[in-house]
Amino acid sequence: METKELGRTGTMVPEIGLGVWRYRGGVEPLRHGIELGACLIDTAEVYGTEDVVGEAVRGLRDRVFIATKVSGQHLRHDDVLRAAEASLKRLRIDRIDLYQIHWPNSAVPIKETMRAMETLVDRALVRFIGVSNFSLDELRAAEAAMRHYPIVANQVLYNLHRRAIERDLLPYCAANGITIIAYTPLDSGRLARRTQYPSNPAGMKALQQIADETGKTLGQVALNWCTAHSNVIAIPKSDKVERTLENCGASGWRLTPAQRDLLDRAFTRNDSDD
Ligand SMILES: NC(=O)c1ccc[n+]([C@@H]2O[C@H](COP(=O)([O-])OP(=O)(O)OC[C@H]3O[C@@H](n4cnc5c(N)ncnc54)[C@H](OP(=O)(O)O)[C@@H]3O)[C@@H](O)[C@H]2O)c1
Repeated sequence: METKELGRTGTMVPEIGLGVWRYRGGVEPLRHGIELGACLIDTAEVYGTEDVVGEAVRGLRDRVFIATKVSGQHLRHDDVLRAAEASLKRLRIDRIDLYQIHWPNSAVPIKETMRAMETLVDRALVRFIGVSNFSLDELRAAEAAMRHYPIVANQVLYNLHRRAIERDLLPYCAANGITIIAYTPLDSGRLARRTQYPSNPAGMKALQQIADETGKTLGQVALNWCTAHSNVIAIPKSDKVERTLENCGASGWRLTPAQRDLLDRAFTRNDSDD
């Protein structure tokens, strides 16, 4: 498993992690993923999966990087502190590695939220601060609200079919040492299944062609396309051991520039997709 630096923290994280939204796979897929080096797990207080993550990492805590999120409904100062305490309890850990604001909430001043996020770092309950679903303007406002610590990651929708971040967010994050955590990187599994895009036969033809050239699966090619950017990691979700192993196999090799170019052209960017 290839690793990448998280922001400019000096901490390395795998380029393929394990997402657990709507996850019902129990501990086994997560443990197999961790064994293969996919030792970043992404959950959230609203997913209802923090408990199973806690169970999966029991005895392995030191090897796993745990990312969770505070709901956009809990961004008042004291609510953030309470939400973090509750997540720590459900995860049965002492410290969250990456605590992310799940989505922005314009009803709460970002300074108030970030003050609470920084307090959590001061109290050693959180290592690093991230955001999710923040536009470039929202990210900049959040950065301006930080007093002591950087924002190290923005978790956003990114896959071959949903490329809006390429317009401004991705280049900004690349230039400023912020990791993009690509969510829904398989487009909810559709990119891993040949029959799922009758509306885009050219795209699926290109994906299949590159899968044949590389000897990889469609899903592995789609994930490798995401992580080809030096500051992007991807967090596919699977309930199944076999697919988790397959997704981990998206790392350790690289699409050639010509293969990336073919995919870029076959799946044209749609700027209105956000
Ligand atoms: N921050 C946010 O707002 C936000 C929003 C959405 C998602 N996320 C994060 O991103 C993670 C992943 O996103 P996602 O769950 O939306 O979508 P995804 O990872 O693109 O796709 C998951 C779907 O693909 C299937 N799948 C996984 N690997 C496969 C493979 N190798 N071959 C065929 N099918 C495969 C899974 O089915 P099986 O489980 O049956 O294998 C599941 O139905 C989430 O779990 C969550 O951690 C964050």
